[in-house]
Amino acid sequence: MSIFELLKQRRAVRNYMPKEVEDDKIVRLLEAAVWAPNDRLREPWHFYVLRGDAKRRYQEVAEQFLQERFPTKPHLVRESLQVLENTPLIIVVTADIVEGDEASSEDNEYAVACAIHSMWLAAAELGLGMVWRTRGVGLVRDKRIYDVIGATADRKVIGSLFIGYPADQVTATARKPVDEKVTWL
Ligand SMILES: Cc1cc2nc3c(=O)[nH]c(=O)nc-3n(C[C@H](O)[C@H](O)[C@H](O)COP(=O)(O)O)c2cc1C
Repeated sequence: MSIFELLKQRRAVRNYMPKEVEDDKIVRLLEAAVWAPNDRLREPWHFYVLRGDAKRRYQEVAEQFLQERFPTKPHLVRESLQVLENTPLIIVVTADIVEGDEASSEDNEYAVACAIHSMWLAAAELGLGMVWRTRGVGLVRDKRIYDVIGATADRKVIGSLFIGYPADQVTATARKPVDEKVTWL
């Protein structure tokens, strides 16, 4: 498939079959990630692969988060927990924070975003579905995620990648015509 086709075909996939993702496919995703561009070759990323007990710990924190956030919406809490239960694999991705150097720390985040996009494209190529989550059960802004993954504060959590084999036909999304987003100067 050409890169242009793959860019259009990649979609956010949120429902998965009850099937584990094979280790060799996980490794291929990670290998795709680390070829992303990054300033001064700092390679500022780290990937935390959560399955089994680690994923259960993630789910416990997510449950606490959801109950605090939506105390009057038990159905929403239940549905969100079901999403987690039905997700075979979570990879949390961090960017290194460069102490006293805000610009480099920012560039590290951009590099990690590139790495995540590479993983997203690779997942599509491997027949896997993926979504990059930050909000809600993505837990990106919940400090408890650091205990779950065992990361220190010099790493910033950029995304939680939910991954599995797609359960159903993925909904197409659209984009505005590029003209609306471009100024030729
Ligand atoms: C930085 C970032 C954060 C996102 N966070 C979430 C999220 O928290 N929950 C979610 O369901 N999707 C999340 N997404 C996925 C987007 O919702 C999705 O890419 C968008 O709806 C477009 O769909 P498409 O990727 O299939 O074209 C996120 C995407 C990005 C790039």
